[in-house]
Amino acid sequence: MSLLCSGAIRQSATRKWASRTFIRCTSSYSDRDQKTTSFGFKTIPAHEKESMVKNVFDSVASNYDLMNDAMSLGVHRLWKDEFVSSLKPGRRGPMRCIDVAGGTGDIALRLLDFAREKYADRETSVEVVDINAQMLKEGHRRFKQTMYHNTPQVSFHEANAQELPVEKFIDNSYDLYTIAFGIRNCTSIPDVLKEAYRVLKPGATFACLEFNKVTNPLLGPIYDQYSFSVIPLLGTLLTGDRASYQYLVESIRKFPSQPEFAQMIRDAGFVTGKDIDGAAWNNLWGGVACIHTGVKV
Ligand SMILES: C[S@@+](CC[C@H](N)C(=O)[O-])C[C@H]1O[C@@H](n2cnc3c(N)ncnc32)[C@H](O)[C@@H]1O
Repeated sequence: MSLLCSGAIRQSATRKWASRTFIRCTSSYSDRDQKTTSFGFKTIPAHEKESMVKNVFDSVASNYDLMNDAMSLGVHRLWKDEFVSSLKPGRRGPMRCIDVAGGTGDIALRLLDFAREKYADRETSVEVVDINAQMLKEGHRRFKQTMYHNTPQVSFHEANAQELPVEKFIDNSYDLYTIAFGIRNCTSIPDVLKEAYRVLKPGATFACLEFNKVTNPLLGPIYDQYSFSVIPLLGTLLTGDRASYQYLVESIRKFPSQPEFAQMIRDAGFVTGKDIDGAAWNNLWGGVACIHTGVKV
């Protein structure tokens, strides 16, 4: 059975589950003008990307956390820790956070833990938003084992980052918007940024953790070799799914460079630091991953 076909069947089963468990949000926004976009190294009609990305994450959802550890040798945990600690959730009192493309809730859990452990804050809340019901299902299952389950501190919402429904995700309502390893999967990055700007309060922070361009010339070739040989092979061995992991590494290479992405953040209206490492962005591991931040004015 093809990846697309098996994904479609799983989606319908997941939808039934999802409608009982978390909130599905639809939007009345109209479509964008974009005609084509990248899906990994392929150019495809823009309107097809969303369902193709959905199929990828349907396919990887049940193994997502395991594969993340295997592919990054656990390093994604360090990057996520660094991302969250750099944002210091709870330092200035309870925050209302939205974690978009939040998947299985890795960032949400860290935000809540950080606020509680560092600042004894049990009021900061995170709304986890993802387009994929299967990923949210994994996240929900995981949160059941935490103290945050069935509290107002966490909730799960199925919605598209590019068109958050305005009636649910109200203008100027969040103190922090996070998106980790998600924005490169979206068809229109400017639309995601526009929505982030809309929902954040003035003075609030947009923060993105994403794979980026390796700036270290020694690390670059090793990283390429690892990404294109080892990751698809691990995907095949651990999950029997090479195509999804091939897409994941290709999509990383198609993502804009650090200065290009910083400019897109400014184009959406945010203020960033200067276009250097340590200001508009912070490279992790020589740019393998990178944290970009912007402030809504
Ligand atoms: C690589 S996972 C990252 C999950 C999580 N943030 C983490 O760091 O572990 C990317 C996530 O982006 C979600 N995604 C892709 N396109 C999206 C969109 N347009 N709107 C919302 N979520 C999207 C996928 O469903 C997937 O859960």
